[in-house]
Amino acid sequence: MKKKRVTTRTLMKYKRTGRKIVMVTAYDYPLAKYADEVGIDVLLVGDSLGMVVQGQDSTIPVTLEDIIYHSKIVARAAKRALVVADMPFLSYQVSVEDAVRNCGRVMKETGVQAVKVEGGEEVVEVVEALTRWGIPVMGHIGLTPQKIHRYGGYRIQGRTESERARLLKEAKMLEEAGIFSLVLEAVPYELAKEITESLSVPTIGIGAGPYTDGQVLVIHDLLGFYEEIQPRFVKRYAELAKIIREALQAFQQEVLEGKFPTLEHSYRLEEFEQRQEDS
Ligand code: KIV
Repeated sequence: MKKKRVTTRTLMKYKRTGRKIVMVTAYDYPLAKYADEVGIDVLLVGDSLGMVVQGQDSTIPVTLEDIIYHSKIVARAAKRALVVADMPFLSYQVSVEDAVRNCGRVMKETGVQAVKVEGGEEVVEVVEALTRWGIPVMGHIGLTPQKIHRYGGYRIQGRTESERARLLKEAKMLEEAGIFSLVLEAVPYELAKEITESLSVPTIGIGAGPYTDGQVLVIHDLLGFYEEIQPRFVKRYAELAKIIREALQAFQQEVLEGKFPTLEHSYRLEEFEQRQEDS
């Protein structure tokens, strides 16, 4: 039976009814398929792929073509989840016209159902234009990794009274501009709670504590697949890197010792001769 797709309306309903929203990042077919199969609500083709897939030290180098490539793959795998493409650095900052063209391209070419843009006041006009043209937008405030060099590192946001006031104001402005949900990254949980309670659209937290409407983690982090950085807010639900290393070492050892392949993993001429006789 065909599964009913999660939509932006579903997420609004979840907020109203208190059902938590679950989101993970996804970049490839198998992981996107597993996440979709277990019923994860939202798959984000995050620009975090720059770090966890490409091995870059930030998300800045990720290109529009990278996001289009991975979004097509994830959209192909997702039968139920809402798929959101994360717009990369410089694909929506230059002008509103440029943003509409680039986000429109992503929607048209990939099969995702929404886009995400980072930023507060500075993206309000872009959000208004995109929603006017029917492109659903997820906002993202707090620690916005595309501004990493301005922050001077991955710093928790909303530490001071004025930062907290700004983030609250920006959340409201983005809601008024038309976002359907808002990612809150690396902010104190008290602030995340206040923002969540002040909005009618759902908030999805990462490093923002337990009081947001949903939670997101980078899939490579939660699976223990990416070991380079482990912020406090990451909980590992598996140790894939360890399992992979062990499997590769076992394969290597068996090949070197002549234990793999055995005849069990080999084709025998006799089988084909028998089949030919039977046909
Ligand atoms: O790119 C990404 O993975 C993200 C999440 C951390 C929300 O933006």
